[in-house]
Amino acid sequence: MKDDLVICFTHLSKRYHTDLFGRAKPALADLSLEIRAGEVLGIVGPNGAGKSTTIKILMGFVFPDRGEVTLNGLPAADPAAHAQVGYLPENPCLYDKLSIHDHLIFAAQVARLAPDEAEARIAKVLQRVRLAKVAKTPVRKFSKGMTQRAALAYALLHDPELLILDEPMSGLDPLGRELVAEVIREYRERGRTILFCSHILTDVERICSRIGLMHQGRLVADLRPPDLPAPPTGRYADKSPLEAFFLNQVAGNEEGNDG
Ligand SMILES: Nc1ncnc2c1ncn2[C@@H]1O[C@H](COP(=O)(O)OP(=O)(O)O)[C@@H](O)[C@H]1O
Ligand SMILES: [Mg+2]
Repeated sequence: MKDDLVICFTHLSKRYHTDLFGRAKPALADLSLEIRAGEVLGIVGPNGAGKSTTIKILMGFVFPDRGEVTLNGLPAADPAAHAQVGYLPENPCLYDKLSIHDHLIFAAQVARLAPDEAEARIAKVLQRVRLAKVAKTPVRKFSKGMTQRAALAYALLHDPELLILDEPMSGLDPLGRELVAEVIREYRERGRTILFCSHILTDVERICSRIGLMHQGRLVADLRPPDLPAPPTGRYADKSPLEAFFLNQVAGNEEGNDG
């Protein structure tokens, strides 16, 4: 293993339920992918492509049927692999009656931060996600965008080396999306590693060092933004380079899966 290898997926396959005849559509089909320190990899793909399954396997929440995943050189299911990981789930669940400040105290305890350091970091991260003024408000009063930013604060609190974000722009207005893009750029400039998936292609195009396109459980393209054919011509001439590439690869081959 090279020193800078942070994430390694090797021949990963996963099917969820099988029917009476033992059949099921694969969620992942022989996915192999390596991510090195300092890379910002954005995974794009239509609904049901397998993006969240990939991330859940990496987090140790879902187990693959076949294949291996390592995180920081350890099996992904080993909790020790996750000490320096910040994770934003696809559908963040917060405790309704607690404030974001309460949640972050808990996160600080999990990360074993000293109380003084914890308060300083909480103040900083709440400022960063623009929730400082509502730090003590029960999160049930938060809008979807505020909840998303609160969950991002939770992921960022311990200043992790690796950020794993599942649809971080989801439910955010343009200001919120810009905030997430700024956070990703800041982490990128500090040499941190980021893996995120998104279906908002313009965001991916402008903040990633590398783009993976998933379709039907497979990685069908792995490229860097400058490699995108530009400017688009023909049928997708009005699209951005990544949108045109995405549509060329995926349209006409899509089964309308809303997973
Ligand atoms: N818990 C589950 N049970 C059954 N099928 C699932 C489950 N989670 C995902 N799937 C299916 O696996 C496929 C991949 O889903 P997912 O990884 O969520 O894709 P994406 O995040 O790219 O939209 C889809 O066909 C989806 O319906
Ligand atoms: Mg998903």
